[in-house]
Amino acid sequence: MRLTDEEKAMADGRDGPAIAKAMDLLVRYGEALGAEALVETRNVTGTVTATTPFMRDFALERGGMDAVFSEFSLDSQEVVAIPKVKAFSSHLQLGFDPHHPKEMGVSEEMVRFYKKSEAEVARLGVQILNTCTPYQVGNVPTRGEHCAWMESSAVVYCNSVLGGRTNTEGRESVGAAMLTARIPDWGLHRDEGRRGTIGVHLDMPVESVEDWGLFGYWMGDWVQERVPVITGAGAVPNLPRLKHFGAAASSSGGVEMFHLVGITPEANTSEQAYGGNRPADLRHYGPRERAATLERINANGSDRQVDYVMLGCPHYTIEQIWEAAQLIEGRQVHENSALWIFTPRAIKDVATRNGYTRIIEAAGGKIMTDSCSAMSRAVPPGTKVVALDSAKQAHYLPAILGLQAWFGTTAQCIDAACSGRWSAP
Ligand code: F3S
Repeated sequence: MRLTDEEKAMADGRDGPAIAKAMDLLVRYGEALGAEALVETRNVTGTVTATTPFMRDFALERGGMDAVFSEFSLDSQEVVAIPKVKAFSSHLQLGFDPHHPKEMGVSEEMVRFYKKSEAEVARLGVQILNTCTPYQVGNVPTRGEHCAWMESSAVVYCNSVLGGRTNTEGRESVGAAMLTARIPDWGLHRDEGRRGTIGVHLDMPVESVEDWGLFGYWMGDWVQERVPVITGAGAVPNLPRLKHFGAAASSSGGVEMFHLVGITPEANTSEQAYGGNRPADLRHYGPRERAATLERINANGSDRQVDYVMLGCPHYTIEQIWEAAQLIEGRQVHENSALWIFTPRAIKDVATRNGYTRIIEAAGGKIMTDSCSAMSRAVPPGTKVVALDSAKQAHYLPAILGLQAWFGTTAQCIDAACSGRWSAP
């Protein structure tokens, strides 16, 4: 791998052992991928805290957060002192919501450790956004900006909707990128990796958040890791729609980038989106595909009694909280059910100022932050059946917690929370 003089100096230890280890990791990682160089990044999003019992015990036994960072972010069993980050870095979602420890099933001791770990990471200069949607709360990459992001739903949004450039990184590579402001230059950092390789044509309007989630789930299952070019889209989808679309496509498949012709920034035309590639295949999405996908997502739902409704995967926007508050105002969550809504902390603050938190709590629901049920493995006690408006969460919760899941619109989910039953067809 070719290194610049600056990179060689970092690798040779000019800036201390942690940065030398970070460079060593990035070079090994880049060489394994066939990258010829590193690219400079000023935007890293990932996870470096310790909020699971395993990580807490590791930190306590091995000497604190430096040991966690050395082992899990620098691949080093030697514990080195971690300096402040060089790149603007933000923190992703974590293992639980520290403001609702009882609901999340964690002890006060875990919360104290969480806060300590968070404070140490903040001291390194990492922004404590604690969300899978950093692009909602202060980290909005510009078109062409090289990033190093974890979290599949954020990666596909960054590449496709914002035109930022990132591969799906892991805990190891983002830690090294935070310290060096470098990441291997391959895959979606390069023009050739971003060009469309397969075609999808819409034979029907895709309009609601539910529609976009279903379409994404169908598309991801078919295209897997290829870059789809989608034609035939009608009305321009907004942030919640594209957030649910990308999250679904990166759950049923490994989609890291899509082009919506006439809408997303690298797809003014089909020709631009393909960039000279010939599509390997083309499929149509219409009412038959939509109906089959809805049936597939709901395949393991059989009991109509709903114990729990979870909204906010990916973390809800303020528009979605506004909608949920309007749907539930003046109603009550059923005594045998529960409603939890997940959102970034900063958006919860806005929701509180706007009165939505009060409306949702008066109805018996809760707004939570930092995590979600799939990440925390936390659901209300006794939950067997869950209702969701997210295809991604409907994909994961049955697999992770063995629950039955119903997927539908936000309105159907709120109805289920208030009646304790899934009444959608
Ligand atoms: Fe976010 Fe959890 Fe979904 S972290 S994307 S809400 S699985």
